[in-house]
Amino acid sequence: MRNKILAEALIEALPYIEKFSGKIIVIKYGGSVMTDAELKVSFARDVALLKHLGLRIIIVHGGGNEITTLAEQLHIPTEFIAGRRITDEKIMDIVKMVLAGKLNKEIVCNLNRQNAKAIGLSGQDGNLLKCRKYFLETGEDIGWVGEIVNVQRDILLDILDDGFVPVIAPIGYDDEGNSYNINADSAAGSIAAAFPAEKLIYLSDVPGILLDGERVASLTQEKATAMIASGQISKGMIPKVNSAFDTLHQGVKKVHMLDGRILHSVLVEIYTTLGIGTQFYLDTHS
Ligand SMILES: Nc1ncnc2c1ncn2[C@@H]1O[C@H](COP(=O)(O)OP(=O)(O)OP(=O)(O)O)[C@@H](O)[C@H]1O
Ligand SMILES: [Mg+2]
Repeated sequence: MRNKILAEALIEALPYIEKFSGKIIVIKYGGSVMTDAELKVSFARDVALLKHLGLRIIIVHGGGNEITTLAEQLHIPTEFIAGRRITDEKIMDIVKMVLAGKLNKEIVCNLNRQNAKAIGLSGQDGNLLKCRKYFLETGEDIGWVGEIVNVQRDILLDILDDGFVPVIAPIGYDDEGNSYNINADSAAGSIAAAFPAEKLIYLSDVPGILLDGERVASLTQEKATAMIASGQISKGMIPKVNSAFDTLHQGVKKVHMLDGRILHSVLVEIYTTLGIGTQFYLDTHS
């Protein structure tokens, strides 16, 4: 019985293996999925498998919770507006320490232990992510928060060609020597759009976009705009949803948000017909 189930799963996957071989998929890795011991190992194994199945994987990671924890330990207050962290000089230092220093290396080591061949870099390495200052829609200045104006995608293509998985900490630079804290979802979206990638997957620690506690399987831009206006989409979900639609407008065909707490959710999304998480659509689809 088990043989039959396994064989059927592989046969179901075959057209997707053919379809995605050689294609670029960007995974935004965030939330508690990054810190739970079992999920960490499972994620790394899945990435190794995807790589061996011919996918070209790029990982962009967040780390909002860890930045808040270290800031609290250092008695430095942190504040958010519309899901974006107000970033003064002190917070910017903490962002660099946590993202580029600690988490990026942890993720790379975790992937390498499962033979996923990962290499870590921040958006400042090789001038990967050039930024300008990001202002809220209200025009409010929230400090060293960056908006990406250029992705040096050739660096990523070289790393991929060498058989490595680039793991990117979302910190940017400008020509004046400033550092920027970039929302990791926005960074993943800009990086996916720069190719454009075949698919962008946000791996988070919720079942998908929730409306009254229920998962929304397909979310159109119109519905998302209304949910943000009414407060049904809030906090860190606002930049995620906005960058999902920006990325679709820039030519990435599929943008998905998955529950990273469910083991192998990325494999299931890519290689089966099961509809899990939330898929973002520009318009109502048939
Ligand atoms: N409608 C919604 N559906 C689901 N989650 C929502 C919704 N509105 C707000 N949220 C919040 O958004 C959070 C996810 O965004 P958050 O930025 O905290 O995580 P992340 O992007 O996965 O991690 P990181 O920012 O560390 O990369 C959820 O944990 C939830 O609290
Ligand atoms: Mg977030």
